[in-house]
Amino acid sequence: MMDSMLEKQVTEKEWVRESRFGRWFLTTNIWYQYVLSQAIIEFKQLLNNSLSRPSQILDAGCHQGLAFELLEQYFQPKTIIGVDIDKELIRFAPKAATRCECEVKCENGTVYNLNLPDSSIDVIFCHQLIHHLSDQSAALKEFYRVLDSGGVLLIGESCRSFINSLFVRLFFRHPMHVQKSAEGYVELVRSHGFIIRDEDIKTSIPWWSRTDYGLSEKIGLPQKQREATEVLLIARKP
Ligand SMILES: C[S@@+](CC[C@H](N)C(=O)[O-])C[C@H]1O[C@@H](n2cnc3c(N)ncnc32)[C@H](O)[C@@H]1O
Repeated sequence: MMDSMLEKQVTEKEWVRESRFGRWFLTTNIWYQYVLSQAIIEFKQLLNNSLSRPSQILDAGCHQGLAFELLEQYFQPKTIIGVDIDKELIRFAPKAATRCECEVKCENGTVYNLNLPDSSIDVIFCHQLIHHLSDQSAALKEFYRVLDSGGVLLIGESCRSFINSLFVRLFFRHPMHVQKSAEGYVELVRSHGFIIRDEDIKTSIPWWSRTDYGLSEKIGLPQKQREATEVLLIARKP
């Protein structure tokens, strides 16, 4: 029953499933250490102690649940709720949950239609999800609905300058018509009623998103001004 409901929603919103390589790459240490852990460390720095202990964190698009342990370590929530559309990935999440002391609930579902009451979540961790969504606006409306007033949406995205690169186009799959610059993501999130202060935005060009993997900078060659490949932002529901 649940599967057929999910299939209907997914067909409506055209789920572009990640490539086999992409699904595997997210289980590597490169992803865990340099992308996922680094993002959580930087979110913590950006938050600058402004976040009190959350009751419920939603990990939106949680993949196999690799962030659960990090979210517990850095934010000490009472409960983590992991949701992912891909049932082949989410079936591994309960195993990741056993490494946490807090309660963790894992659900196969879509962020377009979350199985959560209005205003029930304090923090949404939304890492590298939005650029995978054909209907980004529908997800942001749903995040706004489930987030409590004063709640925080942590968004980390790869920008179009990276998603359009040859390597990413060859090995990963994305809905290409919705890719945005860092400024585009900020605008999109603000347009759904969230407050983002300028100091709550961080853009970067990490080594793994460069065509030469940061080699030319390492050996001291002059760097061209380039468009940001990554953006982190902290959005608040008023
Ligand atoms: C690039 S991965 C990011 C995974 C994880 N957040 C991380 O940073 O390691 C994107 C994830 O979003 C999931 N996803 C894509 N569309 C979704 C949707 N509509 N609802 C829920 N999850 C979705 C994919 O299955 C995939 O696991």
